[in-house]
Amino acid sequence: MIRIGLFGFGKAGSAVAQILSTDPRFALCWIAKRTAHSKVQVLADREIPVVGFEETNFSNWLDTHPVDAIVDFSVPHSLMAYGEELRRREMMLVSAISAYTEFQLDYARSLGAYTRIMCSPNITLGINFLIMASRLLRSIAPFADVEILEQHFKEKSEVSGTAKKIAQSLELGSEKITSLRLGGIIGHHEVIFGFPYQTVRLTHDSIKREAFGTGAAFVLGELEKCGNGFYSFEDLLTKKLREQLSVP
Ligand SMILES: NC(=O)c1ccc[n+]([C@@H]2O[C@H](COP(=O)([O-])OP(=O)(O)OC[C@H]3O[C@@H](n4cnc5c(N)ncnc54)[C@H](OP(=O)(O)O)[C@@H]3O)[C@@H](O)[C@H]2O)c1
Repeated sequence: MIRIGLFGFGKAGSAVAQILSTDPRFALCWIAKRTAHSKVQVLADREIPVVGFEETNFSNWLDTHPVDAIVDFSVPHSLMAYGEELRRREMMLVSAISAYTEFQLDYARSLGAYTRIMCSPNITLGINFLIMASRLLRSIAPFADVEILEQHFKEKSEVSGTAKKIAQSLELGSEKITSLRLGGIIGHHEVIFGFPYQTVRLTHDSIKREAFGTGAAFVLGELEKCGNGFYSFEDLLTKKLREQLSVP
């Protein structure tokens, strides 16, 4: 069983905690927030200790609350604060932080020499699979027309970062992205391949933030089987695909 410490218990972190606390492969041992107003959180009928990271000596906390992995859904600068303990204790890291600076990312990469690190600005299994499947189809059928459609709730003003990432991974310009803003759609991404005599549509719909937890759980399960290093979500998916296809 992998013992986990979760950083961040906001909109995303609380949904992730729901998934990790009910998966029998994991023991969610504690939650770290900026400040802990309440010292425990009840999840899946268990009392999980909550620690205020900025109010605690983290090294002492780890002495009494050891874990095998940190899952980070907090803020970019947390990494620099817990990184040395992570390195010293060889804990795995699953970081979903989307806005690391280049300096922080370099630091995360450097930790890969001592332990297993995975950073992904998009941690849903579905979107990562969609990107991989789209790249595969594009390599098989480079002659097909490709367009990306993204739909979100009315208030979202900017083009979806995920759509931009899909476009970048397929080497498409931003003019290939069409955005629709309608009602309360949480997030819809579609990659449309127009062949001369057929059309292929790969679609992903976000339903709830718990999908971030499913992604983190997948990464933890895969990272456990890896050697030390710095991995992307795509690295782990590719490794899984290779195993499935029995390709050396
Ligand atoms: N990769 C992905 O697919 C993905 C998806 C969703 C979110 N994210 C990332 O997850 C992060 C959180 O997003 P959110 O929407 O949940 O934000 P949020 O609701 O503002 O929650 C942030 C959480 O981080 C905690 N926090 C702040 N500073 C901390 C520190 N120094 N140490 C420990 N915890 C600290 C906050 O604690 P308090 O409650 O005490 O203030 C809060 O619980 C963001 O960086 C976002 O980019 C990534």
